Amino acid sequence: MAGSREKVCVTGAGGYIASWLVKLLLARGYAVHATVRDPSDLKNAHLRQLEGASENLRVFKADVLDHGTLAGAVAGCRGVFHVAFPVPTDKVVDPETEMLAPAVKGTLNILQACSANDVQKVVVVSSTAAVHFNPKWPQDRPKDENCWSDISSCEKNKVYHTCDVFLTFLLGKLFAFRGPAVMKNILWHIVDVRDVADALLLIYKKEESAGRYICAPHHISAKVMVNLIKKTHPNYNYVNCDSDLDPRSIVTPLTSEKLKDLGWKPRKKMEEALLDSIEYYEKAGLLQEVEGRPCRLPHLFHMAIEK
Ligand SMILES: NC(=O)c1ccc[n+]([C@@H]2O[C@H](COP(=O)([O-])OP(=O)(O)OC[C@H]3O[C@@H](n4cnc5c(N)ncnc54)[C@H](OP(=O)(O)O)[C@@H]3O)[C@@H](O)[C@H]2O)c1
Repeated sequence: MAGSREKVCVTGAGGYIASWLVKLLLARGYAVHATVRDPSDLKNAHLRQLEGASENLRVFKADVLDHGTLAGAVAGCRGVFHVAFPVPTDKVVDPETEMLAPAVKGTLNILQACSANDVQKVVVVSSTAAVHFNPKWPQDRPKDENCWSDISSCEKNKVYHTCDVFLTFLLGKLFAFRGPAVMKNILWHIVDVRDVADALLLIYKKEESAGRYICAPHHISAKVMVNLIKKTHPNYNYVNCDSDLDPRSIVTPLTSEKLKDLGWKPRKKMEEALLDSIEYYEKAGLLQEVEGRPCRLPHLFHMAIEK
């Protein structure tokens, strides 16, 4: 079956964003080469259970830091989605060696493998962290694809974030703190992971796509977000937020206009995306009170509570 289908490769396929992308690609009729570091790890088992996986998904064992493991995975693919990236859940002690070096080397290895195997298009997933930290950007102008984070600001902030942050809003008082704590009321950007998968596929398919694309359609302050989700889910132990927006941490919002001009439209409104997330966390058991279960907070969260 896979023989007649367009083949694409997704690196780090067992990860959060990549898994949704693999699901979308299978649903849209692609044959997918999925790379994972350890195919026998149960955390990757969901890939084989996706609809269409038995016919159209091949799982490859590959480490993007090991150049030799990549050729087999990208061979025969028209396109590659490079999503594998070191995403630490604990505090990063040495960002240079723990994150930057692997990210740069991993991306170079993938690009070399793509070049050697006649891959036509590569879509690389990055982070808003590559855009946000630019103190020279005019406060009154939304940050677009021309805005690059300033290296010294990144070094100062040492930040990274994942959807764990959202869990923290709901569970903050349960797991994160020994006593009362207040979260800074800073601005958060929100996008539904399914809309991210849509965006990646659109960028891949559109001939004219080029350069960077910001995919961050919604923003909301921490306090407004907590009040919003409290309305439908009043019983969680929400973090307390400062009342006023923290003046030191206000970020000029990002704009996703370039992506919208390419034809992307988020399927989910922000409220729907947030409520769907809670529903998913509830079903997955992530919001149950489990004595002694550590809540792993990304370092950005610490920035949000440090006074
Ligand atoms: N989730 C978010 O909120 C968010 C927001 C903005 C941007 N992003 C970006 O999206 C990308 C993916 O994030 P995610 O949230 O989906 O993270 P994730 O769930 O942690 O997935 C990352 C994947 O990368 C793989 N990986 C790490 N190092 C690797 C290596 N050396 N070789 C092969 N695979 C490796 C991991 O595999 P293992 O399981 O083997 O470790 C994991 O499957 C990152 O570039 C991130 O910056 C995410």
